[in-house]
Amino acid sequence: MNDLKNLIVSRDDAVATIQLNRPKAMNALNIEIMTELVDVLEELDQDVDIRAFVLTGNERAFAAGADIKEMADATAVEMLMRDQFARWDRIRKIKKPIIAAVSGFALGGGCELVMHADIIIASETAKFGQPEILLGVMPGAGGTQRLTRAVGKTLAMEMILTGRQITAEEALRAGLVNKVVPVEFYLEEAQRMAREIAAQPPIAVRLAKEAILRSFDTTIEMGLEFERKNFYLLFASEDMREGMKAFIDKRKAEWKGK
Ligand code: HXC
Repeated sequence: MNDLKNLIVSRDDAVATIQLNRPKAMNALNIEIMTELVDVLEELDQDVDIRAFVLTGNERAFAAGADIKEMADATAVEMLMRDQFARWDRIRKIKKPIIAAVSGFALGGGCELVMHADIIIASETAKFGQPEILLGVMPGAGGTQRLTRAVGKTLAMEMILTGRQITAEEALRAGLVNKVVPVEFYLEEAQRMAREIAAQPPIAVRLAKEAILRSFDTTIEMGLEFERKNFYLLFASEDMREGMKAFIDKRKAEWKGK
């Protein structure tokens, strides 16, 4: 983690903030930055002292997409052999909550990366879009699936088939983002929410996140079954005993993460 070229990672108690840092290229997501990002997320996912992530860019751009210069000359077979989406699948498997703090452009792979997060805080200046069609391609890191689930078929069709970007306010109305805040506060607000989540019992947070994500891959019947198993599993945790006992004793619970 010491020799990161494209990321700035900071820790504040149990919250790790990861900033995409290729400002001259609008944080375009080349192979190097994605490799660093996935490695850092996986390393910190194993770190018991970290309980939530904030993923951000800069005021002008969260990320303007996959690096077009890296793809422009690639053949289909080269793209296949790069297997870049394997890295994105690894982000999907991160167990701790990820909060995206978005300002400026979140386009193409940038918008898809945002949608890999669990919670999205947008600044008033944020712009979300899947402009791949304008380059002769289409979303490849989940945009057709995740955007459709987030905003519904008709808006997803419009955005993906015309390349139109939507504003933060429109993204809020469409259900893509949790909150829109003035640009001075978007990062602070994401970190505040991350701290709030980091203060909850971590095993319950982990199993709840897992169950919510499962809802995208399964039938309601199997999803409910999965939820129930996770719910029962929490009765094996010390934190569950502590949480309920603290309620009855009228005191604040002290979580051990056990
Ligand atoms: C490589 C990029 C880039 C990108 C911006 N830059 N986006 N480089 N890949 N996706 C570079 C520019 O080439 C330029 O470098 C510098 O960043 C500043 O960008 P400008 O265009 O000069 O800035 P501005 O006029 O403010 O316009 C900002 C912008 C525009 C609207 C974000 O850059 C833009 O439209 N970018 C491309 C957005 C896009 O199509 N994204 C989808 C990519 S495909 P130089 O060296 O010229 O100064 C995709 C597929 C996903 O994401 C598949 C899964 C991973």
